Amino acid sequence: PRIAAIVVAAGSGTRLGAGAPKAFVGLDAHTILRHALRGVFAGPLAQVIVVAPQDRVGEALTDAREAAGDRAPLVSVVAGGASRQESVAAGLARVLPEIEIVLVHDAARALTPPAVFERVVEAIDRTGWGAVPVLPVIDTIKRVEGERIVGVVDRSELGAAQTPQGFRRDVLEAAYAAAEREYTDDAALVADAGHPIAAVDGDPLGFKITTPADLERARTLVAGDPI
Ligand code: CTP
Ligand code: MG
Repeated sequence: PRIAAIVVAAGSGTRLGAGAPKAFVGLDAHTILRHALRGVFAGPLAQVIVVAPQDRVGEALTDAREAAGDRAPLVSVVAGGASRQESVAAGLARVLPEIEIVLVHDAARALTPPAVFERVVEAIDRTGWGAVPVLPVIDTIKRVEGERIVGVVDRSELGAAQTPQGFRRDVLEAAYAAAEREYTDDAALVADAGHPIAAVDGDPLGFKITTPADLERARTLVAGDPI
C-alpha cells in the first residue's frame, strides 16, 4: 500500500518549558523533530507531512529535508492549529490522492524504533483495521475520589497508547470529518466513528518527551547513538 506519515510537531511544549516549541529543542546537534524523522524515514513511505508551528515552517522544512536525504521530494511542511487534533487535520488536508494508509506520529516520540512503524503497517494490512502501539501498564492503577481510594483497575486489561497510529486513509478522513469534539488520540476519534482498532506491541523507546526529565532521558539515549 502507499503510505503517508503525518508528523505532528506544532505544539508549544508547555510542560517541557525549554524556551522553544518542543519539536525544535535539541537532543544533541539535532532537534527532537530531526530525530523523530529519522525513524519515520527508515520505512518505505510515499509521503511525509510535517505539521509545524506557523513561525517554524521553514526550520521544519530544513530538518525534514536533511532527514529525508534523496527522498526530500516526498516531504512537505504545513502550519498546525491550536490543538493536536487541528494539527492532524491540517496535515490530513495535504495527503496526496494516491495514499492508502496514513500514519499519524508525534514528533515528541522522537526515539520510536522503526519496528513499531512496521508492526502498525503490518496490522493494518492484515486486519483492515486501524492500529495503535500499546505498552502494558506497569503501575497498579487506583480509582481515586478526593482523598479516598475507592477501587483498583485491573491493569491486565489496560494498554498505554503510543504513536504512530495508522489508519486506512478513507476511514481517517471520514472520522475526522465527523468528529464533533476533541479526542486525546486519533484512535479514539476513529473508534468513535465506529471503526475497529488493533493493538500492536509498542516500545519503551516510543515514550513521549513531555517533561524535563523525559528530555534528559532522551538526551542520554541519543548520546550513545548519534545520527
Ligand atoms: N501537537 C501539535 N499541535 C498542537 C499540539 C500538539 O502538532 N496544537 C503535537 C506536538 O508537537 C507533539 C504531539 O502533538 O509532537 C503530542 O503533544 P504534546 O506532547 O502534548 O506536545 P505539546 O502540546 O507541545 O506539549 P504541552 O502539552 O506540554 O504544551
Ligand atoms: Mg499538548
